[in-house]
Amino acid sequence: HVNIGILTSGGDCPGLNAVIRGAVMKGDRIYGVNFQGIRDGFRGLVEDDIRPLPRHDVRGLSRTGGTILGTSRIGPFGEGGGGSARVKQVMERNEMDAIIAIGGEGTLTVARMLHDDGIKVVGVPKTIDNDLSATDYTFGFDTAVSIATESIDRLRTTAESHHRCMVVEVMGRHVGWIALHAGLASGAHAILIPEQPVSMEQICGWVESALDRGRAPLVVVAEGFMPDGAEIVRDALDGFGRPRLGGVGEWLGPIIEQRTDIETRVMTLGHLQRGGVPTSYDRVLATRFGLAAIDAVMDSKWGHMVSLRGIDIETVPLSEGTADLKSVPQSRWDEAAVLFG
Ligand code: F6P
Repeated sequence: HVNIGILTSGGDCPGLNAVIRGAVMKGDRIYGVNFQGIRDGFRGLVEDDIRPLPRHDVRGLSRTGGTILGTSRIGPFGEGGGGSARVKQVMERNEMDAIIAIGGEGTLTVARMLHDDGIKVVGVPKTIDNDLSATDYTFGFDTAVSIATESIDRLRTTAESHHRCMVVEVMGRHVGWIALHAGLASGAHAILIPEQPVSMEQICGWVESALDRGRAPLVVVAEGFMPDGAEIVRDALDGFGRPRLGGVGEWLGPIIEQRTDIETRVMTLGHLQRGGVPTSYDRVLATRFGLAAIDAVMDSKWGHMVSLRGIDIETVPLSEGTADLKSVPQSRWDEAAVLFG
């Protein structure tokens, strides 16, 4: 019997379970292969924490959030990980022939390194941030945008009642896709993303112009945003005598309030954006990725990952998938910015 190990690694993401289900269902029905569930990403491979993953364990899974396999950010190339040699040893002990690794940039990079050392591995891209260049979309992104949009809509009505400015911080350390889409969907007066470091003057200008038109100003900011003149902002913060807190919203809100004299509230959506059930779009994409991943395994496409191109699922080399981050292009920003203020 052929044994395929499957793991989810890195931050979790709605749709992971649908990938697992898709791969296991097709693997069982069409190819007659066995699956082994590797616990908590690469930790399970390093520590030999592996269990059988029969077809009945994946029943109904596409509707669920999180990952039944658990996840972690531990990798075989980190301290005490043992590298490819340790992974090979554990695979041999479990008679595991190949691995499907579901994860983001970090996971896919590890998968590529394992492949370079002769381990049979196929990747499935995952991230709510939608920042992997080798695929048009990743599952989890649509869910994150939907949750953010619904939350912003709710925050807007309370902001309007109180004639307040609302600053909503969404996820996105390196790229602003969630902010851009949730901001566009909810009609934000300013969308702030890491790719576009606009000035505090510009931000306050948008806030004031929205207020002038009788609106409750709504600012959607990605966690990785830093305004132009960031040092000035940091100095000004000290001037407030407020402790500098983690998130960008938490210091941006007080600065907007101080400079515009508009009462401002801040909401950081955080892990809400990654929790709960996936949207139908993400269930479909994730299921298709799972189906394609087991095909890739059976085709011996080692060192490749599945990818969405247009409406088709293709495979691309892992090296391509981990090359560059997909950031928001200038044209998408310009298009959205017409609506600000
Ligand atoms: O990459 C996904 C992501 O949710 C980012 O948007 C966010 O910056 C990060 O993970 C949060 O990581 P953690 O779950 O470890 O706090």
